[in-house]
Amino acid sequence: MIIEPKTRGFICLTSHPEGCKSNVLSQINYIKDHPTANGPKRVLVIGASTGFGLASRITSAYGSNASTIGVYFEKPPTDGRPASPGYYNSAAFETQAHKDGLYAKSINGDAFSNAVKAQTIKLIKEDLGKIDLLVYSLASPVRQHPDTGEKFKSTLKPIGQTFTDKTVDFHTGEVKEITIEPCNEQEIKNTVAVMGGEDWQFWINALQENDALAEDFKTVAYSYIGPSLTEAVYRKGTIGRAKDHLEATAFKIKDQLKAINGEAYVSVNKALVTQASSAIPVIPLYISLLYKVMKEEGIHEGCIEQIERLFNERLYAENMTLDSEGRIRVDDLEMREDIQAKVLELWKIATTETLPEIGDLEGYNTDFFNLFGFKVDGIDYDKDVNEMVTVPGLQ
Ligand code: NAI
Ligand code: NA
Repeated sequence: MIIEPKTRGFICLTSHPEGCKSNVLSQINYIKDHPTANGPKRVLVIGASTGFGLASRITSAYGSNASTIGVYFEKPPTDGRPASPGYYNSAAFETQAHKDGLYAKSINGDAFSNAVKAQTIKLIKEDLGKIDLLVYSLASPVRQHPDTGEKFKSTLKPIGQTFTDKTVDFHTGEVKEITIEPCNEQEIKNTVAVMGGEDWQFWINALQENDALAEDFKTVAYSYIGPSLTEAVYRKGTIGRAKDHLEATAFKIKDQLKAINGEAYVSVNKALVTQASSAIPVIPLYISLLYKVMKEEGIHEGCIEQIERLFNERLYAENMTLDSEGRIRVDDLEMREDIQAKVLELWKIATTETLPEIGDLEGYNTDFFNLFGFKVDGIDYDKDVNEMVTVPGLQ
């Protein structure tokens, strides 16, 4: 079939297998040129199909020949209806990995559930024995608690006071004011339940109980801080509380892993266009200004460059510097004082009229469509493609 983008709000309902494949192959090529010395060999990635998780899987497999198991939640194709992009990404990744003689299998299901944990651990025990890295890269709007069955929904709201500032509709380029009412206590709890560290902890517990963690095992989860501009809705909002919890969980896990000399970290990553971040108010405007400034300075990075630096200059480097809170920082370039000062200046003058000039709206837009395999260089979108692609290592 011929597949075209169909957008609704900040989501795209269709995705293109060839475009997704091309994105995956570019990331693979990038990592082949940037291998990791002493990198991991047996890796589990939770949230492995898109964004930072996919980049982590690719960096592990092609940076240090790791066997990878990916867990994700994606929609397979049905006749006449394309799959979700993470499904096509995983198909492309595993097809290429198998061609290159790399072990790559995956589980498509709810990572929060006990069933998916059990299935994953069984696979690890049968095929890999133990793992030496777990990357936790979930981004989800909802979570069902595996034991109580309770359903939680996360929110993106300020705490304590109403927030009013600018945002952009990145499809139309319209800059407008947005007002978000503060959350209530329950919404904080729910957001922490979805995006905090409890599920990461549950994965570690289950893996450890089943003796699936190797000596010197490492685990990393991803966080964000960002500038004061986005603080009220991000770091000091409901999602920020969840990130605080995630960061605190790293220390608990580290203590728990002493017997195997294990390490647990949170890595603070750069703001990037992903399905998760395009849903956050204010962030798209910030990102379009940030992209402009970072590209001008020649220091722009995407997910793969970020994770490559995380592995090669932090996690598997001879010595790793942490911030005062014990976190890994690969948002160092984004947070550079000169970069932030420029973004702040641009923010003040950003309007519908000025944004095309002062911001990288086009870069934002291209990145957004790229997530779904559209607007990818070299793809002929008028050509018939087979949407019924399969993921070869899918269990
Ligand atoms: P993403 O939306 O690209 O990836 C989310 C992944 O989680 C996908 O693989 C998806 O299939 C999987 N997933 C969602 N619900 C699931 C479930 N119930 N069971 C199994 N898999 C499920 O998101 P992105 O942006 O890569 O986010 C990953 C992490 O990085 C998040 O913790 C996010 O907060 C963090 N981060 C994101 C930044 C950004 O600007 N995008 C910046 C810094 C950190
Ligand atoms: Na991810």
